[in-house]
Amino acid sequence: MDYGRFFVTTPIYYVNDNPHIGHAYSTIAADILARYWQGRGAQTYFLTGADEHGMKIARSALAAGQSPKEFVDKVTDKYKEVWQALNLKYSNFIRTTDPEHEKFVQDFVQKLHDNGDIYQDKYEGLYCVGCEEYKKEDELEPGNICSLHKKPCEKVEENIYFFKLSKYQDKIIEAIQSKKFLIEPEARRNEIFKFIAKEPLRDLAISRSKVEWGIPIPWDKNQTIYVWVDALLNYISGSKGFWPPQLQIIAKDIFRFHAIIWPAMLLATGYELPEKLFIHGYFTINGQKMSKSLGNVVDPVEISKVYGVDALRYFVMAEVPFGADGDFSLDRFDQRYRADLANDLGNLLQRVIVMAKNAKVHWEYEPMTKKYPEFDQAMEELKFSEALNFVWKMISEANVRIDAEKPWELAKVDPEKNEKLLQNLLDTLSDIAGLLEPFMPETSHKMIEQLRTGKQEPLFPRKK
Ligand code: ME8
Ligand code: MG
Repeated sequence: MDYGRFFVTTPIYYVNDNPHIGHAYSTIAADILARYWQGRGAQTYFLTGADEHGMKIARSALAAGQSPKEFVDKVTDKYKEVWQALNLKYSNFIRTTDPEHEKFVQDFVQKLHDNGDIYQDKYEGLYCVGCEEYKKEDELEPGNICSLHKKPCEKVEENIYFFKLSKYQDKIIEAIQSKKFLIEPEARRNEIFKFIAKEPLRDLAISRSKVEWGIPIPWDKNQTIYVWVDALLNYISGSKGFWPPQLQIIAKDIFRFHAIIWPAMLLATGYELPEKLFIHGYFTINGQKMSKSLGNVVDPVEISKVYGVDALRYFVMAEVPFGADGDFSLDRFDQRYRADLANDLGNLLQRVIVMAKNAKVHWEYEPMTKKYPEFDQAMEELKFSEALNFVWKMISEANVRIDAEKPWELAKVDPEKNEKLLQNLLDTLSDIAGLLEPFMPETSHKMIEQLRTGKQEPLFPRKK
């Protein structure tokens, strides 16, 4: 498999509060892939951003005593700051309050209207502000509690506009089944398939009459566009002509929006569908989803201040297979930091550089040219933890070789053989640096510097 171009998106996050590890997770994954495909010569484009409209944001602003715009300006800046601190190199950061985005959304909804896919009707039902989603009673816990946000849904009764989602049901089924719109992992594809094939889809309420903080419906300025319709369209408005994406990364909380509403909107307007939608799992804390609403979040910046950004990037990708849920534990982080990073990788580099220096080995650094098909396949399949496993197998094999062949003794009995061995280990370390570049860009750079100059500094300093 190969991509000539690689356009990857993350969700645009609600800027009602600062980012946590969960948001960092999706964004780190996208960053790793963008760097990886760039390294394979693809033209890459990496889009992320901020979801700034809607009731959830408006209420958070009110609670903070600020206007919504003041409030989102501040939190969005914070997001950008954190992404920079985590070395996330997006191509574009879209904000749904950008005037070009607002214009795009209005034109899009107008097009749906002109095509005859919009009608007005009364809506009566339950709404979860945390999800920004209309809920059916049978998907709620007793007392109409949203199972994700643990808060009661609100009754809404309004005269609003609907999009004829039901009209696109067969086409969505066909796109998913034919894998023209590929949903992964497979278990998720089957899950959505069962859901969507089971019963007729309900049409989608696409406006709100009582939410002011949003984009006005172009033909009825008393209503604003439903925040999810607004938000999903960021992927096109922020794409700068790169449409369609090769990959959209999300977690399962927003799966249905992306697997049903989103393709329906695209099918209705003739846009190409994204090639692949990948749904990863949740980071949990003691088994509960980490979330701003639940207040159990881990701050990625705090962790990276202690352990470094690369250790964080490494840990989240190594610890949990992409797609599965995983508990985030600081103890595990600390363990892996010591074992995998400081010990296995850090020590290997130090040992080899010292031994090569002592033996006055002739060697020059060359960027990786060798292919590692096992690693590449894991990356193509978004099996990040397997890709890292592969690299750590190389690391441990190198460590085992050193222990077995004892260069410090070999130097005395067979200096020539020793030089070959050390050259070989230096080559291996160069390739390890090359493979790790998308995951740990700074570490990779430091490794190469040390290999070139022979100057050493602990890659991962010991923690007390
Ligand atoms: O839903 N574990 O924004 P959001 C893993 N604005 N990933 C997590 C996570 C966790 N505990 N918590 C959050 C929205 N995420 C909408 C999206 S897109 C057009 C609009 C990540 O701030 C994960 O990617 O609630 C999840 O899907 C997303 O953040 C939800 O972010
Ligand atoms: Mg959320």
